[in-house]
Amino acid sequence: MRPLIAGNWKMNKFSSDAALLAGGLAERRRGQGDPGCDILLCPPSILLSGVAAALADSAIALGAQDCHPAESGAHTGDISAALLADAGCAYVIVGHSERRTDHGETDALVKAKAEAALRHGLVAIVCVGETLDQRDGGRALDVVSRQIEGSLPDGAGAGNIVVAYEPVWAIGTGRTPTPDQIAEVHAHIRGALGMLDDGAGVRVLYGGSMKPDNAREILAIAHVNGGLIGGASLAVDDFWSICEAVA
Ligand code: PGA
Repeated sequence: MRPLIAGNWKMNKFSSDAALLAGGLAERRRGQGDPGCDILLCPPSILLSGVAAALADSAIALGAQDCHPAESGAHTGDISAALLADAGCAYVIVGHSERRTDHGETDALVKAKAEAALRHGLVAIVCVGETLDQRDGGRALDVVSRQIEGSLPDGAGAGNIVVAYEPVWAIGTGRTPTPDQIAEVHAHIRGALGMLDDGAGVRVLYGGSMKPDNAREILAIAHVNGGLIGGASLAVDDFWSICEAVA
């Protein structure tokens, strides 16, 4: 399965440095060729059109970090999946733990957002992952199962969803699970995806403090089909070297 390396810029960058970062990556992709993975950038929504311009004809895809479940209407400050598609997005992240925490997003809401994404031809990157308390309590696999069951859209399959396993305690902390811990959860997710018709083809990304110096080891773990990268997606050299680590 072709890996996906996705950069989640979160609430970082301004228009000038966003154009430099996206443009720099587009230039690497053109100059150095295909590193062997699909590449995706998910900037803040207000930067989407500028990043889309910087990525034109680059073979790097554009995505967003969230969408609203409704089609349109009275939802001040929100952005629909239709608007994201109109802005050139091919992907949207839904259910990131920061949104589950900051905005109280439930599995049901995440599922509705993912379904809105699918209606507009976007691939939904559905995030799951346990907190440290849940892991310490031996509940990591149960939590992830419950999130998968509750958050995946109806009609999910290899062509329209990606799952990202992001242990909450590894995000932005510099701590990563051991390779055995990652392998265990990814195998578990792969098993849970068996309920889908073509679940074997759904990409399962790892996210949480993936950096140039640990990417190769993590990306080599069975059932890890790419990465969702936060901090290390904010510099051209770091992000490109993670893309190259799939080889
Ligand atoms: P991090 O973030 O790479 O900075 O840990 C990953 C994510 O939250 O998607």
